[in-house]
Amino acid sequence: MKGRSSQQALLVLGGQWGDEGKGKVVDLLSAGFRAVVRYNGGHNAGHTVKFGDRHFALHLVPSGIIHGGSRCYMGACMVVDPLALVAEIADLEEKGVDVNGRLTVSPRATLILPTHQALDVARERARGTSSIGTTGRGIGPAYQDLAQRRALRVGVLTEPEQLAADAVALMQSHNRELDLLFAAPPVDIEQSLRSLQDAARMLSPLVGEIGPALGRHAERGDPILFEGAQGIMLDLYHGTYPYVTSSSCLPGAAAVSCGIPVGMLGPALGVMKAYVTRVGGGPFPTEIEGAVGDRLRERGNEFGTTTGRPRRCGWFDAVAARYAARVGGLAGVALMKLDVLDGLEEIRVAVGYRTADGRVLAEPPADARKLEDIEPEYATLPGWGATTRGITKEGDLPPAARAYLEFFEDHLGVPIVLVSTGPRREETLIRGRSALADRLRGAVHTVEEAAAAP
Ligand code: IMP
Repeated sequence: MKGRSSQQALLVLGGQWGDEGKGKVVDLLSAGFRAVVRYNGGHNAGHTVKFGDRHFALHLVPSGIIHGGSRCYMGACMVVDPLALVAEIADLEEKGVDVNGRLTVSPRATLILPTHQALDVARERARGTSSIGTTGRGIGPAYQDLAQRRALRVGVLTEPEQLAADAVALMQSHNRELDLLFAAPPVDIEQSLRSLQDAARMLSPLVGEIGPALGRHAERGDPILFEGAQGIMLDLYHGTYPYVTSSSCLPGAAAVSCGIPVGMLGPALGVMKAYVTRVGGGPFPTEIEGAVGDRLRERGNEFGTTTGRPRRCGWFDAVAARYAARVGGLAGVALMKLDVLDGLEEIRVAVGYRTADGRVLAEPPADARKLEDIEPEYATLPGWGATTRGITKEGDLPPAARAYLEFFEDHLGVPIVLVSTGPRREETLIRGRSALADRLRGAVHTVEEAAAAP
């Protein structure tokens, strides 16, 4: 498989601050893929997928699991809360999705323990007004233990005695930290260990190396889909640090996570909303307070899948998007929730960041705290009165909506290959004649054929 460039692979990732609608895109495409891989983050992610009248909120398991034909993988750079994974699998099976024999978790992925979650909450509380606004799932503390080389990894779930010894030692150390640094109550280690051991019995059969399995898929010419969590602006290195998650969300992280050559990844499709949202803290230059922001939140149903928190809403930020397209090497953009902008009289797009001393920045600064002092420079475009809901052909869009898409493309320098005009699968428009658009057309067609099959 060395150096094999997979014409069959595709990587889908968030191009903003998460919650862009990756779940819909991955679900739309995944029937055309034999293997679907999650490569970063943990159950801080929440991918919402509507399938017929069923509704799935996936946090750890790749969205491809919903299609019977896909084999799913979770990579080494993920952090896995075994209790959350067991609960998610049980929920899927209750909804009629067969997970058995279709999911493999890398033994190199990091385990999140109950004490990581307690530490996450305690640290956030201690940060007070400068809190990150984490999802409170223990993500940061688990990655911290990984970097300190004292983490437990998924492979230990297959070794009961080692699991007991290592988990107790680490949780004792966490409990000391909780007490001494945060005066927070300790976690019940005995009870935590019992639930870890129960989860280990259920998850052990799923543990296996990802790289060789993906290599075999590539040898067979199987299409592979890599599914990123969070988004480029939440990337640990290239996002709005420190208001970021604790893993890399960029395409290259998929190769690291799976232990495969970068050439196997295929082109990157960045998913972006026609406006911007973020949850948690951190500077947000285009944030809209008041009625328009409330309207986007209500119409776009902008409440977190994982935490239920209302999301902060803002105008599309073309400065951040252009930067994301560059660092993510995006081959195309899937633009989501265009219909949420229906009926607005005018629509604004940030095209530059003006600093306090009058300079205009073409890209976000490396230190996100500097964003506090910038003023976005806006272009104002006319809105459209007519609805775009459910439109599947570009020619049927109101002229102002078409102009919005063209404006977008000019500023990003990347083609918009997919436009979502509603939450349902069929409310999707594939746009243009780029190689990527043609591939998406093929993949969506497979979905339609599968849906039509008796
Ligand atoms: P953590 O990943 O829980 O440590 O949270 C760090 C930051 O990333 C917070 O601002 C979270 O709201 C944000 N975040 C983490 N996961 C997601 C996601 O899946 N969607 C949107 N924001 C996220």
